[in-house]
Amino acid sequence: MMKLLGLGSGRKMGNSEVLLREALMAAEKTGVKIELLRLHDLHIKPCIGCISCSKDQQSGGTGECVIKDDDMPFFNEKLLGCDGIILSIPVYIMTPPGHFKVLCDRIGPSHDVAWQMEAKRIAESEGRESKIDPRFFKPRVGAFIAVGGAPTPDWLSLALPLMNTFTFPMQIEVIDQMQVLGSPLPGQVVLNDVALERARRLGRHVAEAMGKPLEQLEWKGDEPGTCPVCHSNVMLVGKTKSVECAVCGIRGELKERNGEITVTFSKEQQAISRLTLAGKKLHFDDVVETVGKNIQAMGEVQARLKKYQTLKAVKPSKAKKNLS
Ligand SMILES: Cc1cc2nc3c(=O)[nH]c(=O)nc-3n(C[C@H](O)[C@H](O)[C@H](O)COP(=O)(O)O)c2cc1C
Repeated sequence: MMKLLGLGSGRKMGNSEVLLREALMAAEKTGVKIELLRLHDLHIKPCIGCISCSKDQQSGGTGECVIKDDDMPFFNEKLLGCDGIILSIPVYIMTPPGHFKVLCDRIGPSHDVAWQMEAKRIAESEGRESKIDPRFFKPRVGAFIAVGGAPTPDWLSLALPLMNTFTFPMQIEVIDQMQVLGSPLPGQVVLNDVALERARRLGRHVAEAMGKPLEQLEWKGDEPGTCPVCHSNVMLVGKTKSVECAVCGIRGELKERNGEITVTFSKEQQAISRLTLAGKKLHFDDVVETVGKNIQAMGEVQARLKKYQTLKAVKPSKAKKNLS
């Protein structure tokens, strides 16, 4: 049976959780198995930037994190066991809340399929069995829900786009998204029939998409968005007619006709969005090259760092030793 995971990051029975429950319960009616997780019930520590996970993977290990005393192993089991995921967040300062971003950082390089495929390729080319969990390569679909208190969308502008930082490393195909405005009070969304119906539709979309081949998946969001790959409207604009999708990193051509602005992204650019495996592989190659260029200088880096050691950081008296 297909498994659908719902992850809520808001208040207990708050607006994002109500919409998530509505979506999951509608999905369950189609015959999928559902499970609800609340991020506030999990203790997830921030990534300390040691890169042990990536180094371990590239040298034949599983890529296990050095942080042992939190709920990440529990969460990983849930994530690797699912075929679809619905992420639901409250909007905090135009973005997903900080604890959601903490989780995204822990998923980042360690769960990136391009890095894992490379690790697997190296292991197999050397006649070793790869220790990367094969469940990382399972196709998954996803959808996003964001709820804000503000009545105007400018206060939710980076919420849905930034939710892609959870899904793109694992190549989770996001097929739908919704955002609800004007909901500052906890749970008040139960009075919003339009939002509840949209959440049910989102739940059914994900349930129906789970297990389908990639080429049969369709975008079910209400708006196509400016970017045809991630469907976001957040573009970086400079002084030229070329713009860059802030989520995908791909470049498009800005055109103006009869007062209407359009952005066209070539097929070539769409193919190297960081939401694609090819785009992630390009980034992997860039990182390997950049590390290679700089690694010889690390002796000099250590020598120059000494001068900063006399300036001690101030810590609260009961501060635990920081691993980083
Ligand atoms: C720290 C904080 C920052 C917030 N910032 C925004 C914001 O930038 N834009 C917005 O629309 N709502 C903002 N809100 C309101 C919440 O998004 C809103 O109350 C939402 O319904 C909370 O979802 P929940 O009930 O699922 O927790 C903020 C709330 C808090 C606590």
